[in-house]
Amino acid sequence: MIITIDGPAGSGKSTMAKRLAKRLGFGFLNTGAMYRAVTLYFLRRRVDISNQDMVNSLLPDIHLEFSGERLFLNGEDVSEEIRLPEVERFVSAVSALPEVRQRMVELQREIARKGNYVLEGRDTGTVVFPDAFCKFYLDASVEERARRRQKELAEKGFSYEFTELVQEIERRDYLDKNREIAPLIKPEDAVVVDTSSLTPDEVEEKLYHEVKKKM
Ligand code: C5P
Repeated sequence: MIITIDGPAGSGKSTMAKRLAKRLGFGFLNTGAMYRAVTLYFLRRRVDISNQDMVNSLLPDIHLEFSGERLFLNGEDVSEEIRLPEVERFVSAVSALPEVRQRMVELQREIARKGNYVLEGRDTGTVVFPDAFCKFYLDASVEERARRRQKELAEKGFSYEFTELVQEIERRDYLDKNREIAPLIKPEDAVVVDTSSLTPDEVEEKLYHEVKKKM
C-alpha cells in the first residue's frame, strides 16, 4: 500500500510523512533527500551539470542507501550535509535533469515496492506512484514556510534573514513548478491540506482520518 504526500518546500511533508508512517507501521521515503544527495555528489566534484555526457557517465557511480532515516551516499552518511544551504541552492537545477529523475524514480519504486510506504516529495503521486492508494498535497503560505525554515535553521545554529528565506523558497517553488519534467503539481485525486494555520497534531489527525476512511 502506497501513500504519497507532495507539496512545496516547508509545507510540512516530511514531518507528516514520518508521523503517518509511524502511526500506520509503514516505511517512510523522503525522495527530496535523494535529489539532495545527488546534488551534493555533483557539487563536490564541481560537475558542470549542463554537460549531459558528464552527468550520464557519473550517475552509475552514485549509490544511495537509507538506513532508518539516515541517507548514505556511496557508504558515507550525508544526512546532515544534504541540508546545507549550498545544496539547497542547486538542488532544483539538478532535479530538473531527465537522467537524474529517471534514475531516482526507478530507485524510489524499487525501495517502496518492498512493503507499505509513505513517500513524500514533488512528484510521488503524479509520476512515481500515480496509482497510489491515497494521495495528499500539502501547502502553506510562503511566509509561514519561511518562518518554519528560519526556526529549523536556528535550531541548527544558522541565522538567516527572513526576507532572504522568502526569496529562496519562492525561487525554488518557481523552478520546481515550472520545469519540463515532473513539475510540482497537485495530483488530480489528491486531498489538499493547507497547513498554514494548523498545528502538526491537527494536520496529522486530518491525514490519518483520510487514510482510515479509505481503508
Ligand atoms: O523535499 P526537499 O525540499 O528536501 O526537496 C529538495 C528538492 O528536491 C526540491 O526543491 C526539488 O527540486 C527536488 N525534488 C524533486 N522531486 C521530488 C522530491 C524533491 O524534484 N520527488
